[in-house]
Amino acid sequence: MEGSHAGGGDQATRHGHTGEGDFAGQFDVQFEGSANTLEAFWMPFTWNREFKRKPKVITGAKDMHYTTDDNRQVLDGTAGLWCVNAGHGRQRIVEAVQQQVARLDYAPAFQLSHPLAFQLANRLIGMAPGDGAFDHVFFANSGSEAVDSALKIALAYHRARGEGQRTRLIGRERGYHGVGFGGISVGGIVNNRRKFGQLLTGVDHLPHTHLPEHNRNTKGQPEHGAHLADELERICALHGPETIAAVIVEPLAGSTGVLVPPKGYLQRLREICDKHGILLIFDEVITGFGRLGTGFAADYFGVTPDLITVAKGITNGTVPMGAVFCRKGIYDAFMEEAEHGGGTIELFHGYTYSAHPLACAAALATLEVYKEDGLFEHAASLAPKWQEAVHSLADHPHVIDVRNLGLVAGIELAPREGAPGMRGYEVFTNAWEDGLLTRVTGDILALSPPLMVSEQQIDQMVEMTRKALDATP
Ligand SMILES: Cc1ncc(COP(=O)(O)O)c(C=O)c1O
Repeated sequence: MEGSHAGGGDQATRHGHTGEGDFAGQFDVQFEGSANTLEAFWMPFTWNREFKRKPKVITGAKDMHYTTDDNRQVLDGTAGLWCVNAGHGRQRIVEAVQQQVARLDYAPAFQLSHPLAFQLANRLIGMAPGDGAFDHVFFANSGSEAVDSALKIALAYHRARGEGQRTRLIGRERGYHGVGFGGISVGGIVNNRRKFGQLLTGVDHLPHTHLPEHNRNTKGQPEHGAHLADELERICALHGPETIAAVIVEPLAGSTGVLVPPKGYLQRLREICDKHGILLIFDEVITGFGRLGTGFAADYFGVTPDLITVAKGITNGTVPMGAVFCRKGIYDAFMEEAEHGGGTIELFHGYTYSAHPLACAAALATLEVYKEDGLFEHAASLAPKWQEAVHSLADHPHVIDVRNLGLVAGIELAPREGAPGMRGYEVFTNAWEDGLLTRVTGDILALSPPLMVSEQQIDQMVEMTRKALDATP
């Protein structure tokens, strides 16, 4: 087979390469004695055949940079995968995890717990948006799990209150809510959905808010598009609002190529949800923990949802963790239902690793670093500089749109004729080879650096992006 043959051939070269790097020993051990070492790992959301022909391998990281297996420094333009908000290898987080694994490696998550779980839940409630609006946190291990947990909590909440007919979930076109069956059902990215059967039933979708004909090269929030929230009224009229449990949106959609919400859009969604007793879920897996220069996007937009899903930046990407913040009244409804029904367990849902001790230790240390370093404020102060810098790319012949908010930018490229996504992939590869990590979705480049980024590194990122665009046909 072409893929495995090419992979095997390149691995020999690769093995030779690794002898040069600081981390070579570590990497060599994994390659020792096998002709097919790259092949066994089925990589997620990856062009596996291409990777195995031409691997991109990271062996270390510190602050704003990755180290590659051939010992190059790569500037991290994407905070890993939107998660390393405090920068890499932060000593405080490293030590917290090291100490925790020695003290308590694992505690059963069901009917038992450990102190850091409660400490972290309290910390998160203390910083949640909406002036004390949230009073409970449910822990998961990823964004996908946080989303599925939030959808299940929303359904069961209505049932606990005697509104069990509210079974419909409303997502949005181009939404990304992870890869669980709940997440892909409410999500709106066709490639993530079409090969996986019928998904959840009873799901409908709002239109996406990307209106390039009106909002091209908008700096910050677009003027045009708030009316798209009114589509929720149409969906309510179609199904009956009393059948709808929840609406889930990313306040700023990241994975689908950085879609910034039009002015007034989220406020309008909130009003319609309130009018019809529908729960509003914000998926803040990428916007949570400072990405927009505020704790959460809900703070930035001044709209308080009923449930918030978070992950990624909660532990600075060091240990997997996800969580759902629940607005006052949600937890109580479960407690009251069980109290009156004489039940014991109030929510039949949870994970072996919910509130894992290492994740809790990492999260508590991460929140300290965010606070001590004033990273959310730093991000807010750099946002105007970031905006000007990324919009300077709008004049490049490949670029058809630039959009931004906080420390996020989307740079949309004209697709190459007959090969959508190829130009984006090549820009990503050229940037990587030149020493910049970008993220690409189809032909849209996303930049979202660690919040510790400096003005000079912003300029460097933009220069390197331009160079990668120039180098790509
Ligand atoms: C908005 C949003 N929700 C959910 C997820 C899924 O998170 P995970 O990959 O941790 O499951 C992501 C990941 O990028 C995301 O951006």
